[in-house]
Amino acid sequence: MATVNRQLVLQSRPKGMLALGDLQLQETPVPELRDGQALGRVKYLSIDPTMRVWMAMDSYLPAVAIGEVMRSLGFAEIVESRHPDYKKGDRVSGLTGLQEYVVIDANAKQSLIQKVPKIPFVSDTVFLGTLGINGLTAYFGMEIAQPKKGETLVVSAAAGATGSIVGQIGKIHGCRVVGIAGTDEKCNWITRDLGFDAAINYKHTDWTEKLAAAVPSGIDIDFENVGGEIMQSVLGLMNLHGRVALCGLISGYTKEDPGLASFAAVLMKRLRVEGFIVLDYAPRFTEAGTQLAQWKMLGKIKDRETIVEGLEKAPDAINMLFTGGNTGKLIVKV
Ligand SMILES: NC(=O)c1ccc[n+]([C@@H]2O[C@H](COP(=O)([O-])OP(=O)(O)OC[C@H]3O[C@@H](n4cnc5c(N)ncnc54)[C@H](OP(=O)(O)O)[C@@H]3O)[C@@H](O)[C@H]2O)c1
Repeated sequence: MATVNRQLVLQSRPKGMLALGDLQLQETPVPELRDGQALGRVKYLSIDPTMRVWMAMDSYLPAVAIGEVMRSLGFAEIVESRHPDYKKGDRVSGLTGLQEYVVIDANAKQSLIQKVPKIPFVSDTVFLGTLGINGLTAYFGMEIAQPKKGETLVVSAAAGATGSIVGQIGKIHGCRVVGIAGTDEKCNWITRDLGFDAAINYKHTDWTEKLAAAVPSGIDIDFENVGGEIMQSVLGLMNLHGRVALCGLISGYTKEDPGLASFAAVLMKRLRVEGFIVLDYAPRFTEAGTQLAQWKMLGKIKDRETIVEGLEKAPDAINMLFTGGNTGKLIVKV
């Protein structure tokens, strides 16, 4: 049994991308368990854009305090237990933090820790992506979007963990689905393998013309993951009474939020814009997880992962989200 817990603690609040030393590696003793506690060995960490927000400011959760273990979702296996609900070998997911061992106790509810079932042919990491935060976000965001057969859905960050699932749910509902992504390889993946009808590489200079050509009947739903110029262009092509599921604004997480140059399209096109945070839907996670698992089993949702090895690489991995270094779910293998 290991006696040392390696952890990444927040040392300074990043400005722009994470710099060396914003997260510092420290070693602490693995704590002795008290009654009512269990010890999980963290196997995988979920790397999410919201971590950059948690490092910088209070948002829908308080900012991580300086000196505190960096907050993150993760997947762990119970290695020791004095907790009535957990036994050795149980697998859990939830807010493990960027560390090798997590103590689960009476606060397990706040840390969203829950047991993970063994499903044949489903790897552990899927519980961080398609059957974890990203699948759930796509599911509830698409509920807000209310897709109807024949409508046009545009999703940004379309080859990422959330966007790639959003587009596939759009296809399940019979929508024309157009994804916006940052490389030709990503565009090929979402059209050839995931069934998107079209993909636009926003790094090509003529991308706005290509987007307009890809949505001949206009856009009914914007599943917005990026904000800024991309959102502005999409809103300009929306149909009257379109819906915007405002999921994320990643283009503003490492620099001053570019926001929108103009909100006029929301007014002129009578759009319904709804921001949402997936945690608000926690009471319905089982319902959504069951549906997502079914779609995955039936091959209606396919996924990809980008895996980075080693806890110490987590800061680099976080930065990859902002340079587009990942396709699908970004995970650190501890
Ligand atoms: N509301 C919620 O509850 C909730 C929950 C989870 C996630 N989210 C949000 O959903 C979005 C996607 O998150 P994710 O976890 O699925 O990450 P992800 O899409 O797997 O990774 C982020 C991707 O965003 C793209 N990107 C980064 N900076 C960009 C920029 N300036 N302009 C355009 N694209 C950019 C990159 O792909 P390219 O190569 O295509 O640029 C990158 O791969 C984020 O905004 C996140 O905050 C919200």
